[in-house]
Amino acid sequence: GKSGYGHYMLKEINEQPQAIRQCLQGRTSEHQQSVLLEELADLDHDGLVQLVACGTSYHAAMYGEQLLQERGMQAQSFFASEYDADRIAVDNETLVIGVTQSGETADTLSALREANRAGAATLAVTNVVGSSAARECEYVVYIRAGPEISVAATKSFVSQQITLALIASTLADVSLPRFLRALQRLPDHIQRVLDRTTTPAVASEIADSEAYFFIGRGTHVPVALEGALKMKEITYKHAEGFPSGELKHGPLALLTPNTPVIALVTNGGETATKTIGNVNEVAARDAPVIAVTDARESVEGVSDTVLEVPRTHPWLAPVLANVQLQLLSYWVATRLGRPIDKPRHLAKTVTVE
Ligand code: F6R
Repeated sequence: GKSGYGHYMLKEINEQPQAIRQCLQGRTSEHQQSVLLEELADLDHDGLVQLVACGTSYHAAMYGEQLLQERGMQAQSFFASEYDADRIAVDNETLVIGVTQSGETADTLSALREANRAGAATLAVTNVVGSSAARECEYVVYIRAGPEISVAATKSFVSQQITLALIASTLADVSLPRFLRALQRLPDHIQRVLDRTTTPAVASEIADSEAYFFIGRGTHVPVALEGALKMKEITYKHAEGFPSGELKHGPLALLTPNTPVIALVTNGGETATKTIGNVNEVAARDAPVIAVTDARESVEGVSDTVLEVPRTHPWLAPVLANVQLQLLSYWVATRLGRPIDKPRHLAKTVTVE
């Protein structure tokens, strides 16, 4: 059942601390010095990594791509439906990772079959034991999110992000004690966001808007895209996400006082400063600004509303920011009376190409 929550989506958003604990269970060494992924014990790969996925899982794959690159690997992510092994370089030196919660998405399965045909090693990152993706691939790492009933993916996304982070550390063979310690604290940090969020009130103010824009840089780009996808799927409102630097190259023309811009500004440094510059361009067009930040003082002058997240390792800040975005979409959809767990025209598992 929904355990007292109005919808499975809200229940599953609230299950994220537990989902992460399950995902990490037994997968790091005692003092968080290194990652232990038994599933990959006999995989020794230092060549190209390609990630294939759809929808929300594609956004997790983008995050995985960035993490792999950060750790010194060559990585590329693809929409599974656009993966064409005849056109791109893929051979027996390539590792292809299929990221799919259900393990049954037709486009992702088809990309994995192509990869297998091309001689690549294949790895499924999935939630469902014995799923088609798990059977298609040579290697499997389960994300252990537990059953996800709501059509809109929430806890499976965070579990995919964490699993890909563990895989990236394993493949790159790097030990990142600071990152791993921050990972152990992530469930508590998410709990803090869940306990203190002001998204119900913010949602009431913006529920009548014409459209929503989500912007961020670097590690926040996948989350900006994910925030927009969640918003459109459960509220039926127009929403778009893009890198904040792209704002001035077109989308700026769409901004009005009725198009809130949700800006992801964490981690300080040059990235945050540049995004704040982009936020100023938004404010000058009288569009309302909602900043998701770990440094309230840095954005107070340029934003109308602030959604706070605890400060954490830079690679985990987007994970925390995403929880605020999930809640924001959920509460806007609630204010609009949408059938949140079963949006029109959508199915939990898409078994046609
Ligand atoms: C959005 C959503 C979809 C799925 C996509 C892939 O909330 O759930 O975009 O992420 O259909 O599904 P899986 O991960 O099962 O391959």
